[in-house]
Amino acid sequence: MTVSAIILAAGKGTRMRSDRAKVLHEVCGRPMLGYVLDAAFAAGASPIAVVVGHQTEAVKKAFPDAQVAWATQEPQLGTGHAVRMAQASVPAKGDLLVLCGDAPLVRAETLSDLLEHHRDTEAAATVLTAEVDDPTGYGRVITADDGSVLDMVEHLDATDEQLEVCEINSSIYAFRAEDLFSALAEVKNDNAKGEFYLPDAIKVLLAREAYVEAYEADDANEVLGINTRGELAYAASVMRRRILHGHMANGVTVLEPSLTYVEWGVEIGEDTEILPFSVLRRGAVVGRHCEVGPFAHLRAGTVMEDGSEVGNFVEVKKTRIGARTKAKHLTYLGDAVIGADANIGAGTITANYDGKAKHETRIGDGAFIGSGTVLVAPVSIGARATTGAGAIVTRGHDVPDDAVVVGVPARPLPKPGKAGLPAGKAGLPAGKAGLPEGDAR
Ligand code: UD1
Ligand code: CA
Repeated sequence: MTVSAIILAAGKGTRMRSDRAKVLHEVCGRPMLGYVLDAAFAAGASPIAVVVGHQTEAVKKAFPDAQVAWATQEPQLGTGHAVRMAQASVPAKGDLLVLCGDAPLVRAETLSDLLEHHRDTEAAATVLTAEVDDPTGYGRVITADDGSVLDMVEHLDATDEQLEVCEINSSIYAFRAEDLFSALAEVKNDNAKGEFYLPDAIKVLLAREAYVEAYEADDANEVLGINTRGELAYAASVMRRRILHGHMANGVTVLEPSLTYVEWGVEIGEDTEILPFSVLRRGAVVGRHCEVGPFAHLRAGTVMEDGSEVGNFVEVKKTRIGARTKAKHLTYLGDAVIGADANIGAGTITANYDGKAKHETRIGDGAFIGSGTVLVAPVSIGARATTGAGAIVTRGHDVPDDAVVVGVPARPLPKPGKAGLPAGKAGLPAGKAGLPEGDAR
């Protein structure tokens, strides 16, 4: 059996007080509409129509690969009107889900359950509802004891008695398409907002004595609609827990989930440990048996190969860190490719930006970068090469394999016994030869 879907995403989101369209506000590093699209796809909906209107181009651009039909609603005259604008994009008959672009926490399983309930009860419409402690702002669903819907009312239009009802309309529904579309044709805008309300289509159905069901979600969080920045932050906290639990189920140790921020779209391998106060942004890829944090920041384009470690106050961007390589303290690694078994000393900085463009730093296998080294890109450090503490390797002055460079600007360490330098001394404490002093492991 097939099901189609309409996702409402044309509204401005006035209460966000933002220049950005509401559905583009991010939850865990991803525009909230993305989660709704995923849920609709995962529930098997096809075709999927998305109603856009406010900042249409920006919304479409955020989802260039989405296999959806975009429908335009201009001007935005309410949720009922929005559905009508997508009517031509979905089949005229059969099961139809209506979802909201501003309710990103709904899970595909819940949509499937809603649909199953809808089919089992042969209802004309089934509203996904939830019991909430504070129903302020939501439309209320008045139900009979058997779970059938008696009435729907928006907050602004509710009587004092109706305002006491804590069963809310999630604005997520399953409809028999032909019933919905014929009812919508009768919906008027004589209400507090002067809009064509989608819930009024249900009232039309009720007036026709059609059967309408309420299906209560197990978890009230799933139906949370985001209208304000406060609700955005709350939804993000719920999503963050979900994301972390997903990684933990996949074998990742998260020492303290409440102090760990992992965005959507991060890969982490088994037996990796994430220590508190770490931020892993969308697109970061972490292998197996790695250690991240505490206080690490992995940005887009980070790849940590198996067994590598990134520690306190280390920021990594667009950088591949080879297997077993360690960067444990106070470091910035940007636009770099680092081999295996390298040690990046405390305070190492890749100076990747010259004020105009970004440049690449390459560090070979087994290299030893002394504490406080600045690598001015573009530059490359050979395999097993060493830089002394505080060295500044200037752009283009590549360091060959196995070489040792020290100083500012970094130069090859003079070999003992060479002209002008007393053997065994080289101006440096005997037995040490200025080699990686101060390497803080
Ligand atoms: C809506 C419901 C309310 C429900 C709540 C759940 C109506 C009239 N009210 O209220 O019963 O409790 O959601 O979160 O439906 N949209 C359009 N075009 C429009 C207006 C809105 O596409 O003309 C889209 C918005 O982008 C948004 C969604 O529809 O994604 C909901 O709109 P919003 O204005 O947030 O509705 P609520 O006031 O929250
Ligand atoms: Ca809303």
